[in-house]
Amino acid sequence: MARHLITSALPYINGIKHLGNMVGSMLPADVYARYLRQRGHDVLYICATDEHGTPAELAAKEQGIAVDEFCAQAHDAQKAIYDGFDLAFDYFGRSSSPQNHEITQEIARELKANGFIEERAIRQVYSNTDGRFLPDRYIVGTCPHCGYDKARGDQCENCTRVLDPTDLIDARSAISGSSDLEIRETKHLFLLQSALAGEVEAWVDERADNWPVLASSIARKWLTEGLHDRAITRDLDWGVPVPADTWPDLAAEGKVFYVWFDAPIEYIGATKEWADQDPENRDWRSWWWESDKDVRYTQFMGKDNVPFHSVMFPATQLGTRAPWKKVDVIKAFNWLNYYGGKFSTSQRRGVFTHDALEVLPADYWRYFMMANAPESDDASFTWEHFTATVNKDLADTLGNFVNRVLSFSRKRFGDAVPAGGEPGEAERVLGAEIARLLAEYEEHMEAIQFRKAAAALRALWSAGNSYLEEKAPWLEIKTDQDAAALTLRTAMNLIHLYAVVSEPFIPATAAAMRAAFDLPGSTATWVTAEEARTLAEVPAGTPFTVPPVLFAKLTDDDLEAYKTRFGGAE
Ligand code: 2FM
Ligand code: ZN
Repeated sequence: MARHLITSALPYINGIKHLGNMVGSMLPADVYARYLRQRGHDVLYICATDEHGTPAELAAKEQGIAVDEFCAQAHDAQKAIYDGFDLAFDYFGRSSSPQNHEITQEIARELKANGFIEERAIRQVYSNTDGRFLPDRYIVGTCPHCGYDKARGDQCENCTRVLDPTDLIDARSAISGSSDLEIRETKHLFLLQSALAGEVEAWVDERADNWPVLASSIARKWLTEGLHDRAITRDLDWGVPVPADTWPDLAAEGKVFYVWFDAPIEYIGATKEWADQDPENRDWRSWWWESDKDVRYTQFMGKDNVPFHSVMFPATQLGTRAPWKKVDVIKAFNWLNYYGGKFSTSQRRGVFTHDALEVLPADYWRYFMMANAPESDDASFTWEHFTATVNKDLADTLGNFVNRVLSFSRKRFGDAVPAGGEPGEAERVLGAEIARLLAEYEEHMEAIQFRKAAAALRALWSAGNSYLEEKAPWLEIKTDQDAAALTLRTAMNLIHLYAVVSEPFIPATAAAMRAAFDLPGSTATWVTAEEARTLAEVPAGTPFTVPPVLFAKLTDDDLEAYKTRFGGAE
């Protein structure tokens, strides 16, 4: 079995994330990690809060607390929400950890020793109104490439091009809105990406063909535009300090590394955090050393993050000349919009993760988001679509099936799985169909195609409904008890199979379904093709209980209430 290293883009520390953020990073990574664990692979799923940079400093200032305290609180708040979504990280770290400081500084030293970091005097934007140098992302203006008028100095969110603040048309301070900006000279460290361009290109060429097309096309587009040297330090108080042993002058001026330099390194840093808290995990480097050829590394992220992960982080890793494990597959996502427009934190438009959990349990969201993941295109969230999907797929197709079968069987045959006769033609046809759909589901999960995987899962649920409708045990029972019992036993085996294979998408519901059967010896985490065909894992006589309704049906009143509460739906 291969070992799988999985990371999802690190959520920024400030602000509660919206669903669009989660659907493109942590949630799909969790679904994939759960699937691989169930298939018996050794999985390490690492994430963390991305804590450095100006946004954290400014948010702390606004709340009148120290930035480290702000980050500690915000980290815990985010972690609690992710727990609520059942995101089963192996470790959820913090980019401000001592481990990340140490590894980031070490990598910078190595890059310098290899000639890939250089000190340069640059002219930087200084805001007279704000009395400070403005980091790139705190300068906003019009993108010279696409004309988007809220482009940031580091990147245009609209066309994903990486920018320099001086590229912006009508530049202004994002803090004060002032355009009283001037250019002053100051020294910074530069990562000499131009010197690494050939190597990075060869590296991308070697593997990008295996990436889903969204990621490979962005990586290639970016390489074609040319790799420029990039300043990797900033004038901030909060960040990984430039090591004084290597750059005494810059350290004395209080320069810190740019957040995009230390954030991806935190994938490694958090792995060390994970190792340090449990002696059993001490061999953490085996996950990150290229010589360990059995590790397959998959990253999950929104499309705006692809340039940093496909080019800048690999350049950083390559430049150390140390055998750091580099990503094998980048799975990128488009945007999830809210009624066709952007989610907006400031206007409170859209669905934020903490609100989502207040409204409905995690599994409703997990299923809906993955079944409609913005994989090949941007997708739009609407409450109409959400409630219709919940009602049809979760409440009717899955939930109702489970309840109907178990309640009816209990009523007619008591609290144990009934025996009934030997499987017949209908059961053989059903078993073949289930085995075929399971193989399809597995294939899409292996290919990290979530919409298709969700469709296969839904088809598995539907196959149970069709079988039940065809056999109609509520009619069979009138003439042939054994026939009805066989149908119910087969349907109960389907429920058990659903419990196992639905877990990556809806873990809490899957656990409730599994717990319905008193099968203490059953520890299998997946279903073989043979088991899918025979549907006999739950033998006659197995005690069972009827779980409470798995998914509540959402009414028109619910729909209206959500639209009113969350707004922006006109
Ligand atoms: O775009 C973002 O939300 C960043 N915080 C992602 C960082 S990913 C990684 F490099 F750390
Ligand atoms: Zn643009």
